[in-house]
Amino acid sequence: MRKNIVAGNWKMNMVNDQAKELALSVVENSDTVSCQLIIIPPFTAISDVQKVINKSNILLGAQNCSQHKSGAFTGEVSADMLTNIGCSHVIIGHSERRAIFGEDNQLLSEKVNHALNSNLIPIYCCGETLQEREAGNHFDVIKRQIEEGVFNLSEDLFGKIVIAYEPVWAIGTGKTASADQAQEIHKFIRSLVLEKYNETIANNISILYGGSVKPDNAKEIFAKPDVDGGLIGGAALKATDFIAIATSF
Ligand code: PGA
Repeated sequence: MRKNIVAGNWKMNMVNDQAKELALSVVENSDTVSCQLIIIPPFTAISDVQKVINKSNILLGAQNCSQHKSGAFTGEVSADMLTNIGCSHVIIGHSERRAIFGEDNQLLSEKVNHALNSNLIPIYCCGETLQEREAGNHFDVIKRQIEEGVFNLSEDLFGKIVIAYEPVWAIGTGKTASADQAQEIHKFIRSLVLEKYNETIANNISILYGGSVKPDNAKEIFAKPDVDGGLIGGAALKATDFIAIATSF
């Protein structure tokens, strides 16, 4: 059975004191949550947040990692560094990394491989822009992102990853994909996985939806059969909203 997951991507928000406070508030309110929670703070706050969530069931992630193992790469953070401070997950290929920092499928594929080699679970993001959707290219775009980013993995390794579908036009805009739009793409992604791998892997992979998920729309989206949770941005910065979303299954 695949896992339901709600992951909070804090992006470039929260200095350490704020991060510790927010993490504590999530821990204190997480008793009623039955899905897997993951908190994904900025690099600088990961260690402090780790100390706060240490004894809870909440997992810890990072927002990016280098494709290199170590060495002269000023400003980069390696997957080993992240596992060493308690991360189990890492977001790879968030649309902000793709659009603002020019990360392409080839580079992201290297990062995914590297993360897995260091025992980090990649949350691999895909999603189309508004222009691509309006031109009717969204299925092709997503297919390419998945094929080039993660379909070089062996069955064994692919079985470990999480996929997040995040339509770029819905991220931070307040515009959510409708539950039906999300379901349509999630089903499509699962069918690609079935074609490439097998039924067990297709049934077991968690596919999260991201893009303006809020407490008032989470229930409808999470009710769809191929949506296994959410990657939450803005609403993850408020513990009560994050928890309300996580209890929407
Ligand atoms: P949002 O961000 O919930 O603020 O739209 C989601 C994301 O970028 O992961």
